[in-house]
Amino acid sequence: MILEEHVDHILVGREHLQARVAELAAEISRDYAGADDLLLVCVLKGAVMFLSDLSRRLTVPHAIDFMAVSSYGASTESSGIVRIVMDLETNILDWHVLIVEDIIDSGRTLDYITRNLSTRGPASLRVCTLLDKKVRRMVPIPVDYVGFEIPDEFVIGYGLDFAELYRNLPFIGVLKPEFYE
Ligand code: IMP
Ligand code: MG
Repeated sequence: MILEEHVDHILVGREHLQARVAELAAEISRDYAGADDLLLVCVLKGAVMFLSDLSRRLTVPHAIDFMAVSSYGASTESSGIVRIVMDLETNILDWHVLIVEDIIDSGRTLDYITRNLSTRGPASLRVCTLLDKKVRRMVPIPVDYVGFEIPDEFVIGYGLDFAELYRNLPFIGVLKPEFYE
């Protein structure tokens, strides 16, 4: 099976992706300069590639931690029911927390995560997402850093999956409909 053949077209190519991640990292490094106790919270599994590239480009000291939530099955639509599958190891009290997400669609997942983490007493709580499907938003969510605003298409690659495949593709692409219908 050649995964590239399942891609209808590339939305954000490898170089473009890397250049934007570098810009975001520079912006975040400026904003958090001097702030101790910065924690990047990677939302598994989709944000793992983004987190690892972003983290390596940050010039400010920071810790990383992971949490996993579930709201999708093998479907392209959010169920709206979110639950924590794996929680953070860190007690985030007094940490400057930056949530790192792959994509915001309806906003339900991030709404749940930000509400949940904000009850734990972080010094600050911000959101960084690689992709934003703004036209699909059902729940308003303040987003501090956005890589790319994208149209309402189901995308894969660079961490994003369909039924757990395609995460390793180095670009953001649109899946041919025949592979998810
Ligand atoms: P939301 O709760 O509707 O905002 O959905 C957010 C989550 O759904 C993301 O963290 C992704 O895991 C997943 N998701 C939303 N859109 C896409 C897509 O186009 N491709 C892959 N996963 C997506
Ligand atoms: Mg995700």
